[in-house]
Amino acid sequence: MAKRSVEVQVLDSDFSLLLRESVTYEFKMETRSKYRFRNFVMFCMLLALTGIIYFGYFCSDQVCALTPQRPVWSELSLKFPVQDNLGKPLSLHSSPYNSKSSNPGFSYDDVLNENFLFDMNGHDVMVFLHIQKTGGTSFGKHLVQDLDLQRPCTCQRKKKRCYCFRPNRNENWLFSRYSTGWKCGLHADWTELTSCVDTEFDKNEGDSVKRRYFYITLLREPISRYLSEFRHVLRGATWKHSRHWCGGREASPVELPLCYSGESWEGVTLDEFIACPTNLAHNRQTRMLADLALVGCYNISYMSLLERNRVMLASAKRNLAAMAFFALTEYQKIGQYVFEETFNLRFAIPFEQHNATLSSSTLSTLKPHQLQKIKELNSLDIELYEFAQNLMYKRFNKLKSRDPMFEERFANLGRLPGRTEFNWDQALDESKETTLEANT
Ligand SMILES: *[C@@H]1O[C@H](CO)[C@@H](O)[C@H](O)[C@H]1NC(C)=O
Ligand SMILES: *[C@@H]1O[C@H](CO)[C@@H](O)[C@H](O)[C@H]1NC(C)=O
Repeated sequence: MAKRSVEVQVLDSDFSLLLRESVTYEFKMETRSKYRFRNFVMFCMLLALTGIIYFGYFCSDQVCALTPQRPVWSELSLKFPVQDNLGKPLSLHSSPYNSKSSNPGFSYDDVLNENFLFDMNGHDVMVFLHIQKTGGTSFGKHLVQDLDLQRPCTCQRKKKRCYCFRPNRNENWLFSRYSTGWKCGLHADWTELTSCVDTEFDKNEGDSVKRRYFYITLLREPISRYLSEFRHVLRGATWKHSRHWCGGREASPVELPLCYSGESWEGVTLDEFIACPTNLAHNRQTRMLADLALVGCYNISYMSLLERNRVMLASAKRNLAAMAFFALTEYQKIGQYVFEETFNLRFAIPFEQHNATLSSSTLSTLKPHQLQKIKELNSLDIELYEFAQNLMYKRFNKLKSRDPMFEERFANLGRLPGRTEFNWDQALDESKETTLEANT
């Protein structure tokens, strides 16, 4: 029964894809509260129109036969490759697992095309989706420490916390580890954040205002990330307090059995790490960006593994494309530039490109069969990363082409005149435990 609703949802997205392809009309969300109804009506009209065109002209007999034929995700995703800007219509879907509709927030194209900027004085919120071992800790620190703001974040040494308030009132504009903390769970993923962030803000600020959410995240080359996670777990990190919330509950121990007994997996060998089938390091980036409600959350009997993987990957791509901003760890400068241009904010320091140090040393000691296995275990992440790379260049080139000052800007990223140095390590001096739990 629940399966059926997923198929309905697939059809939905099928239509929103068609909508994008056959009609060049931009479906804009604008401020959600005011225009939601109007948009919904327009969406229905367009849906009908697109449906007519689709059935009339483009529809093959095989797909449009009146006998119910179940569309398969794999076919759909092959027929309609995911493109940029597809995430928005997702908010119109009803998911069998989400009571409150997931709200993926504002996409990069919204930001670019509609001439609206991230408005710190209004009700805009930046939400940082921090995937383990992608360089998110440094980036998260840059966000609270290095942005050139009218009202900079104020950081408290003891609490390892910063207040990042709007210039005109004491409300957060940034949802991240160092500002609000792990309010939606340790390293909360897309599924957890979209079902939680708004509620969390409502708790503090009341639910009378409708906030606009701008999701941002980092991705990293999957093999390096995986090895980095391995080394972190080897040193004793567990992230065992992550909730893995989906479909209104936490994943049960039956669904997500631990790979180790005892307190941690300290001392694990790479072969053991690879061999644990429920190791969350496998394809972590895809899982954390996908809408897990689509695949029955952590219940792997919900659909076949093949289908589960395809749906997750398609969903992760779509959600990534719908994000206001993402960067790749391997391209710090581009990331900094795209962030600054997208949000019209400036960092007061240049992002550093750490050359893969430890990872590459581990990489060189890998046996060929180990490397092969790791690639297999992370095949979704590898495809996602390729997709992300292309999309990043697309966004970067677009921004570059409309920036008359590009050469100068790019050569001088992070250089603002007259800013005093601030030493994060003095401001935030973290305990070993926290570092282990959540570093990078
Ligand atoms: C997992 O999914 C299967 C198939 O849909 C269902 O029969 C089963 O009850 C689910 N398990 C849980 C724990 O929800
Ligand atoms: C990082 O590695 C690249 C290629 O190996 C090299 O060209 C570059 O100079 C290195 N950067 C730093 C900061 O070491």
